[in-house]
Parts: sequence; C-alpha cells; structure tokens
Amino acid sequence: MTGCRGLAATAVARLLPSSVRNESQGLIITSNQRAYTSALLHQNLLISDHLLCTTVHGAADLLLEDLRSRGANPATPVDDATVRSDFRGVIATLRAIEILGSAGIVVGHSTDTLPDLDRLLASVDHGLLGVLDCGSPLRFRVELRDAAHRRKVIDAIKVATGWINDPADWTVNILRRAGVWIAEVGELHYSRRFGRLRRQPWSTNPVLAAVLVRLAKLNSGQLVHDPFCGTGTLLIAAHRAYETLRITGTDHDRRTLEMARGNLDDHQVAATVTSTAALPFPHPDHSVDRVVSNVPFGKQVGNHGDNVILYPRLMTEIARTLRPDGRAVLLTEDKRLLVESVARTPGLKIIRERLLRYSGASPTAYVIMRTRTVRHRRR
Ligand SMILES: C[S@@+](CC[C@H](N)C(=O)[O-])C[C@H]1O[C@@H](n2cnc3c(N)ncnc32)[C@H](O)[C@@H]1O
Repeated sequence: MTGCRGLAATAVARLLPSSVRNESQGLIITSNQRAYTSALLHQNLLISDHLLCTTVHGAADLLLEDLRSRGANPATPVDDATVRSDFRGVIATLRAIEILGSAGIVVGHSTDTLPDLDRLLASVDHGLLGVLDCGSPLRFRVELRDAAHRRKVIDAIKVATGWINDPADWTVNILRRAGVWIAEVGELHYSRRFGRLRRQPWSTNPVLAAVLVRLAKLNSGQLVHDPFCGTGTLLIAAHRAYETLRITGTDHDRRTLEMARGNLDDHQVAATVTSTAALPFPHPDHSVDRVVSNVPFGKQVGNHGDNVILYPRLMTEIARTLRPDGRAVLLTEDKRLLVESVARTPGLKIIRERLLRYSGASPTAYVIMRTRTVRHRRR
C-alpha cells in the first residue's frame, strides 16, 4: 500500500470509500485515474467510523448532545472532555460542531506498542480518512514523547501505508489519548476550522469561546456585547453561531483592540468594537440581549483588588442594560467575588454555573439572568 498518489486505477478505486465511487459530483478523476481535490475530498460524503472527539474539560456533555444530534450513535463520554462514538454522517456536519476541539478515529488500544495499521487502512477505504485528500500520500505526524518509540511507530506507518512523515504540515496526527490510539484528522482540529487569529497571551481559546457562546443560547438578530472583548475571539464565535447578530465589544487596551479589528476583518464579522473602558456599556437601558465575556480574573489580566471594584459595577451595568429575557455568560476564576457581586445586585441571579478547564486554568462560566419579579415588571 503506498497511499493515493501514483496508484493503479484499481488500487485508487479500492482506496476510495464506496460512496465516493458511487458519487461522481465533485470528484475529479484524471485520465490516469488519480483523484484530486483540496484538503478534504468530500465535505458531503457519507462516512461511517468509530470516533474519539474532544472539547474543553467540563463540556463533554454538550459535545455529546451535538454528536448525537448529528448522527453519532452510540456516543458515550470517556471523561469530561472526551466522547467516543460511532459516527455515520457527512464530515461537514462534524466540522460544523463549534465546540469540537479535535476528532479522530480510534485505531487500537494504547497499551499496544503500535496503532492498529489495518484499522488505519480500513478507515482510508471506507471511513473518515477516506475523505482526505487523495491527490498525494497523506502526511502524518506521531505525537509521542519517547523518541525511540516515536521512530518505531513512524516507520511502521510509512511501510504499511506509504504516507509521508511531516510533523510541520500534517493531515493525520497519531497519538494516544483516553486509553486508545487515535488518528486525529487535521482538518477537524479547531485551529484549522477557526483559521488564523491574532492572539494575546490572555486570549480566549476558540473552543472555550464556542462553549461560552453556546451557554448564552443566542437567537438570530440579537444584540450581543462583550465588554472585555480582547482580540475578539468571543465576538467571532458569536458570529459563527448567527451571522445576523448585532455585535459590539470594548477593550481598554488599544493594541489588543487593533488585533480584534484585524481578526474581525479576516473573519468578515461586522462588529462595532471600541477602545475604551468596559464601564459604562455603550448601550441604553434594557437594550442588550446577551453579554458574553471572559472577564479579567487576575491571572494574566487584572487583579483581585481591582476586581473588588470592577465586578459590582459590572453587575450594575448588566442589570441596567439587559433586556427582560436577556442573559449574561461570564467566565472567571475570581469566583466568590463574582457570586457575591451578583447576590448584591438587585434584579440579577445566577441560574447555572459550569466549571471549565484549559491550559492550567479552572474558571467557572456563570449564566446570569434577571430575577423573575424584575423580568415581569419590565415587560
Ligand atoms: C481575559 S481577557 C479577554 C480575552 C478575550 N476574550 C480574547 O479572546 O482576547 C480580558 C480583557 O479585558 C481587558 N480589560 C481589562 N480591564 C478592562 C477594563 N476595565 N475596561 C476595558 N477592558 C479591560 C484586557 O485588556 C483584556 O483584553
């Protein structure tokens, strides 16, 4: 087996999933019977495979919901960030899961020295790997700390598949996670789905941003505001959920806001962002549908002393501007202060909280709404 490029017609036909063979639309077969396309061969090709998908820690239940609603059955959580599932559907529906961090196929038990090479080839034949570019051999990398072991796995994969080891530009990443060997698909990794973003060290991870947006339960046409928008990650995540949203953001750091402008332009998000202090919000009373923000919590941005003043004022501003049925989703590690600040603000209450973990931080996302009495009075 040598990969796709240069194969005889029969071998190419065998490598292509049966549905590619049956579906002519979009598939270009040249005279020498090679199949060419861009990174993904068929966005809308029906595939069937055993997947392991990840999101941020603390959101596996949301990922489970998303996968089940898109044809993953059975699907079971492995831990608070990982879901295993049998998936039958089109790859475009997987790519559309905003809170997906990564996805790959299960290729053996991690206790085995090598991944199951037959499973790899079977997936090229009729599973997820079959939708990848077949214009040339697949490029792969192996993510293993032990150099000798890594070399052994690389050599075994090269011999069995004809793929090219290319750690800098890979399509498939072979690694061990959650007790299994995984062949992770680069095109489904969040970094490739979200594209290039200008970042600050404190910028929100895009998958985390998608989780926060998900908790906000957005609806088309709503006004969404991020008072601490930084480089604009949450604004972009909101736009990806609904292009019809009206989106605003503020950040007092001029350079960071310039980065936000660049990111918003690149992602064609028509948001109004202003380099100014977060408070007061640039909105009239009862006009904002959703406030979504990764607020300063004193690790990389701000400190507890400043937050003691900032958080109560932030809550007062949310209470002033939120519509009767509005909601705010705020992420912080300065948890007690946030909870106390909400409790001391007439008309606001925390309706849900979710502990999330990423890059060594363990913040909580708080979902805040108006109390019932205030909601009724304002209708
Ligand atoms: C945790 S970061 C937000 C990260 C952002 N979601 C992103 O993806 O880049 C908090 C941001 O709040 C800004 N900030 C802190 N205090 C502020 C204040 N009082 N007014 C406006 N912006 C503030 C910082 O400049 C920083 O960009």
